[in-house]
Amino acid sequence: MFLIVWLLLLENIGARNLRNIEHTPFHKRNAQNILLDVRDTHVLFSDSVFSQDESVKLFANTSMISNEEAVEITWNNPAANLFDMIAIYTPPSRRIEDYLDFRYVSDTKGWEKNQGVFKEILFNMRADYELRYLAIDVHQKATVKATFRISVQDNEPMHGHIAVTGRPGEMRVMWGSAKSDNPRVKFSQSPDLKNSMTVSATTTTYTADDLCGSRANITNPLMFQDPGFFHTALLKGLKPGVRYYYTYGTDKATSKTASFTGAPYPETKVAKTRFIGFGDMGVHYPPFHGDSTGAADVTKALEEEAAKGLDFILHFGDLSYARGRGYSWDQFMSQMSTVAEQIPYMVGVGNHEYDHVSGGEKDPSGAPENGFHPDWGNYGEDGGGECGVPTVHRYVSPDNGNGVFWYSFDYGLVHVIQFSSEHDFRPGSRQFLWLERDLKSVDRKRTPWVVMTSHRPLYTSQEQNGDHIVGLHMRLALEELFYVYKVNIHLAGHLHSYERTCPVIAGDCVSPGSGTVYVIVGSAGKFLDAESYTEYPWSKYQNCEKFGYERITANTTHMLVEFVTAPGGQVLDNFIVPSWEENLAHRDFKKWN
Ligand SMILES: *[C@@H]1O[C@H](CO)[C@@H](O)[C@H](O)[C@H]1NC(C)=O
Ligand SMILES: *[C@@H]1O[C@H](CO)[C@@H](O)[C@H](O)[C@H]1NC(C)=O
Ligand SMILES: *[C@@H]1O[C@H](CO)[C@@H](O)[C@H](O)[C@H]1NC(C)=O
Ligand SMILES: [Fe+2]
Repeated sequence: MFLIVWLLLLENIGARNLRNIEHTPFHKRNAQNILLDVRDTHVLFSDSVFSQDESVKLFANTSMISNEEAVEITWNNPAANLFDMIAIYTPPSRRIEDYLDFRYVSDTKGWEKNQGVFKEILFNMRADYELRYLAIDVHQKATVKATFRISVQDNEPMHGHIAVTGRPGEMRVMWGSAKSDNPRVKFSQSPDLKNSMTVSATTTTYTADDLCGSRANITNPLMFQDPGFFHTALLKGLKPGVRYYYTYGTDKATSKTASFTGAPYPETKVAKTRFIGFGDMGVHYPPFHGDSTGAADVTKALEEEAAKGLDFILHFGDLSYARGRGYSWDQFMSQMSTVAEQIPYMVGVGNHEYDHVSGGEKDPSGAPENGFHPDWGNYGEDGGGECGVPTVHRYVSPDNGNGVFWYSFDYGLVHVIQFSSEHDFRPGSRQFLWLERDLKSVDRKRTPWVVMTSHRPLYTSQEQNGDHIVGLHMRLALEELFYVYKVNIHLAGHLHSYERTCPVIAGDCVSPGSGTVYVIVGSAGKFLDAESYTEYPWSKYQNCEKFGYERITANTTHMLVEFVTAPGGQVLDNFIVPSWEENLAHRDFKKWN
């Protein structure tokens, strides 16, 4: 009977589109190396009981971990069964069926000899863990035969990241922890933090009730999980180009020292501004790659770029793909921290952070009803009920627009605008009016370059249905604005691939420096989209085979734009965007092609 259930499960998984796979916390795979779905592995137990058995042993090589630490788990049972499992719980008070994840003992090394050992990475999810050996009998009754506790470092500060505010001399430092007792940042110009200044942080959190709907608001171990507290410290009086060292946390539990470079002031003369942009990353789970097969390599490449010097990073939506799974946010925040502690990491929202169809009154963006659902669009409920709430609490953005949803900032030679394709962008909308006002205010003598991003693209030749149609509507709404205000380049994701246009106006290629160049770079980790392309004269380069990111180096006269692969660091596409010349004759922006 077991075997039949098991085979049915496997069949289900095979039939399910890879796009919709929900990895388990351990990113479990089946014998064919196919990622298992969290919904398929959730076995229901009836009449499960605790009944410790001296002959069954279960232990780990440590009884205390800090965030993202490897543990080695060993079991020993003279009467082991094929379907016995080692399940893990957090907090330890969970019911037997409410495990976070498990391994079948038969999947662990040495099981033929009634003992086994395996490794797992554990994340500090702000509560202790309990391992349990579950003996499973033929009636699917689970008996807990042995347990082992692993505690987590008390109130450990985690997930550190920084962001610019848009105001000179400032930087925000953000992190998360279990408690909220006097969080602070200490910073100094010296690596040993001599003569450091202390800045207190402000703290927020959210509950399941603050989310817009299911499944994000379901409180089971695989979905809503107490996120702890989010802290933000605003550092002021920083000097351009100066290296600052800092720690975050409390006096009792402090982070390792990290550092960043003070951002330029408006009047600072800079020779060049160097930044990276991408969308659609997801979580990797070391040493495995999870369902975001490229995320590990791209993250590693970002670390190398950071070491070479980088001004900021733009991640325009589809960040963790948590869609309600608390553990995915913990894993993603840990993954990004090494880079985001050193380089301002500026995020925007994608469909997977925001799109929702219920609970609109809780939507932190203030969009009417349940957000943007025009009848020509394919805006659904891809946020899994999060409606941006987990994103808003984790990432504080410049506050000159609408929080993380739309904002802009100057950095060196570049004016960056990250706006939301998940909100109404049509003429007359709140967002459109803000975009127009912001574009109008750009001082091109100070920032010769205007870089815009949104999660969804205006131009895609890869997808001819939903996303293509949305792109056409974005063009109708926004292209004239981009032309009038001489937007040099627009970066998007959403399609998990790379594509670049000529400088283009309403579907017509124009000479360099007289039209916006559109780039899709949604290849930062989430499995690649292999759909075929339709031929359009404006599409100049396409790649749906490699993971990578966009690297942009701007000086006062040119922007060098490169698509860089990870792994490998190969430049597969590169082009120069020259300064914008005067606008040419009137164009027809209402063409539908
Ligand atoms: C436990 O085992 C893991 C995996 O082998 C190892 O990385 C880790 O350092 C070990 N921890 C301790 C405390 O020995
Ligand atoms: C989750 O949100 C939905 C939609 O707003 C609501 O109907 C449901 O009661 C909520 N569930 C929980 C457990 O709060
Ligand atoms: C600006 O960048 C372009 C393209 O990389 C390069 O050809 C040019 O020499 C640079 N100008 C200066 C002043 O560095
Ligand atoms: Fe997307």
